Amino acid sequence: MSNSQASIPEMSATAGRVLISAEQIQQRIHELAALIESDYPSGPVYLVSVLKGAFMFVADLSRALKRCCIRIEFMGISSYGHAKTSSGQVKVTRDLDVNIEGHDVLIVEDIIDSGVTLSYLRRLLEQRKPKSLEIVTLLDKPDRRIQPVQVKYVGFQIPDEFVVGYGLDYAEDYRNLRDIRVLKT
Ligand code: IMP
Ligand code: MG
Repeated sequence: MSNSQASIPEMSATAGRVLISAEQIQQRIHELAALIESDYPSGPVYLVSVLKGAFMFVADLSRALKRCCIRIEFMGISSYGHAKTSSGQVKVTRDLDVNIEGHDVLIVEDIIDSGVTLSYLRRLLEQRKPKSLEIVTLLDKPDRRIQPVQVKYVGFQIPDEFVVGYGLDYAEDYRNLRDIRVLKT
């Protein structure tokens, strides 16, 4: 089966040009998994994934992690509505249903843009006294940062452009693309 998603050409066309191909994403995820495995030689590690954008990343990252024992948990955080820039207001729309106290926790995010969402989430989870708390993000737009966040693992640094695909949406569309594209404006 091809990775190009030629079966949905209309979606690829409106999404715009490919910034990071499906193959590049998978290769980088395997590199990140190797780093994570060596940093956490024994489990469990709680992967706290941020819905909805990180659902594809956590699915692939978790399957690339072969050595440590992992748990997959989800949180819902919203800061955007249907706009392309952050509202600056962060809201927990779905909380964890496990206690992370005393555990190694890795927040799994799709993209860090202004940093508002992740700095809020990091503060929130730190209050729950995990043994360790780190962040892995597939994408990083450093030019747009307004709140500094300590991020241990970054898949790709990208320029200040609005991207869709591989879990990332614009007004809920394009999440199912396998590659990451710059949204046509
Ligand atoms: P931040 O709070 O500004 O760092 O924004 C983080 C969230 O905004 C991410 O988890 C995404 O859901 C969303 N976001 C930021 N930039 C993009 C983008 O280029 N495409 C799609 N979603 C984005
Ligand atoms: Mg997100």
